[in-house]
Amino acid sequence: MEQLNVLVTGGAGFIGSHLVDALIERGHRVRVLDRLIAQVHGAKNGDAQPLHLDSDAELVRGDVCDRDVVERALDGVQVVYHQAAEVGVGQSMYEIERYVQTNDMGTAVLLEALSKKRDAVRKLVVASSMSIYGEGAYSCPACGVVHPQLRPVAQLLERRWEVECPTCGSPLAPVPTPEEKPLFPTSVYAITKQDQEQLCLVVGRAYGIPTVALRYFNVYGPRQALSNPYTGVCAIFSSRLLNDQPPLIFEDGEQTRDLTHVSDIVQANLLALETDRADYQAVNIGTGAATSVEEVSRMLAHGLGKDIEPEIVGKYREGDIRHCVADISRARDLLGYEPQVSLERGISELLDWVRQQKAADQVARATAELEARQLVH
Ligand code: UD1
Repeated sequence: MEQLNVLVTGGAGFIGSHLVDALIERGHRVRVLDRLIAQVHGAKNGDAQPLHLDSDAELVRGDVCDRDVVERALDGVQVVYHQAAEVGVGQSMYEIERYVQTNDMGTAVLLEALSKKRDAVRKLVVASSMSIYGEGAYSCPACGVVHPQLRPVAQLLERRWEVECPTCGSPLAPVPTPEEKPLFPTSVYAITKQDQEQLCLVVGRAYGIPTVALRYFNVYGPRQALSNPYTGVCAIFSSRLLNDQPPLIFEDGEQTRDLTHVSDIVQANLLALETDRADYQAVNIGTGAATSVEEVSRMLAHGLGKDIEPEIVGKYREGDIRHCVADISRARDLLGYEPQVSLERGISELLDWVRQQKAADQVARATAELEARQLVH
């Protein structure tokens, strides 16, 4: 493939920086627009280039909401990967303005600038999220495939964790979630991800900028900010274990997620650039396999050689879903995507990196913040 000028917004972050590495490895010229916020990059980072950002990438430090900075960052660019976002689901429920500002307004500013460069830009790929589905798809023995909304509060207060059929009340079994499932975002973060996806697809289509939205499932891997208590469960549990603290498990630990290694996310982003078959579409990127939260805790403890049992707290987080696993047929068909990293290998690679980190355990503080706002029950 020819060498292209690529902009990665949020390119110093966890997923963005891996994408930058892969693009540079393929010979592309990469510019990164990133604010290097302290919550993700640490307070001491100052103006320094983050250690994990490839020095061949050009770093523009700035805010995706700043029109002048964005226009400068887009100069000469042919491909845009929009990864910049505030990503804490729980935090989004009380820092509502910050989340809507960065995620929605940032996307608006980027798109308005892009609309003026419609002829130069060949591809826009936006990071969307499984969070926009809310609960995954389920099968009911009596009603077939159903799309339940969040579990009723009364049910959760009785600690009945599994999802029940909205029509007949039967217990439901999770099934792979396809892109057609109705969207039901259950957090401010998820709403902003839905906005980002739809804004990009609609504006991209109107201006003839081929646009792809990749709906990432739960992503894990090296460089996930361990000291940021608002990232995913693998990072949170690793950071607890590193500090000899038991992982704190909400509900009963039997809830499941589709844990996807960051290199498979990168693979999908590269494929979205190489083919036009997914243009103007939203595509799930996961593995299609479900893993329970308790299993994650055990795999991490085992891998780190820590004899630490998780603590099942029996509380639940406001807005949490029970199960969601990706149907990846569309990714296979349109992108030729196939997940490459098994959970065993992915966790072992994650832990090789975790062992070299010193993670401040901020989880207790983050949970206390949620509890103070009655977002954990
Ligand atoms: C959410 C978003 C997802 C986002 C991810 C990371 C939804 C549906 N999905 O996923 O888009 O990429 O956050 O920001 O909103 N858990 C514990 N103890 C902990 C932490 C988590 O038991 O200390 C449990 C949660 O209750 C949940 C599961 O682990 O059942 C996964 O949580 P998490 O990693 O935060 O991700 P999601 O909420 O699935």
